[in-house]
Amino acid sequence: MRITPSILNADLANLNSEIARIPSCDAVHLDVMDNRFVPNLTFGLPVVECVRAGTDKMLDIHLMIAEVDRWAPSYAEAGAESVTFHIEASDAPIKLARELRALGSRASMGLRPATPIEPYEDLLGELDMILLMTVEPGFGGQPFLDLVVPKIRRTRALLNKHGGDLWLQVDGGVSLETIERCAEAGADTFVAGSAVYRADNPDAMVTELRAKAEAGRRH
Ligand code: DX5
Ligand code: ZN
Repeated sequence: MRITPSILNADLANLNSEIARIPSCDAVHLDVMDNRFVPNLTFGLPVVECVRAGTDKMLDIHLMIAEVDRWAPSYAEAGAESVTFHIEASDAPIKLARELRALGSRASMGLRPATPIEPYEDLLGELDMILLMTVEPGFGGQPFLDLVVPKIRRTRALLNKHGGDLWLQVDGGVSLETIERCAEAGADTFVAGSAVYRADNPDAMVTELRAKAEAGRRH
């Protein structure tokens, strides 16, 4: 059970000190948005490079950008351990996943809430993680979409059938209220933005979320 907090709701002008507030996290989730793939704009490669220079934590880059085939490899080159591209934004996902792996990064494929997993079953061997959005991508602090839970279950079943060690990440509206049902459905990696950074003690919240996820898995 991995907790990968999103810094979207943290103080973006002080990213490295914000990251230092969550030493218990398994990775730091960085949301790159371009105001094209999603209606919001955050930061890009230069900021990720600065974050990389300031932390040894695993960096989990979530690219919500158009023309992702063109831009994603640079994030692997910058030293990110995991790069997620959205399947809706990729023209050549197999080529892209192979490029990311060749550059030493984990290759991860993201799906918007309405995108089905089934058409992509044959791609699983090229991937290290599936990210299922549990809100429409673009903003932190949105309510969890319960309708994605059956897709978490179906994705877990496909991953079990496939074998290997792909991670299954959920992103959006994950909190103490919702994390158990995600874990129970088969997620093992959890992005939480506002739940962590709006908590009085963000690091204690990471530990609480992990405990809840473990309880969900046991069900
Ligand atoms: C939304 C981003 C998420 C977001 C999560 O498009 O991909 O990572 O920051 O924030 P919360 O946990 O507040 O939904
Ligand atoms: Zn994200």
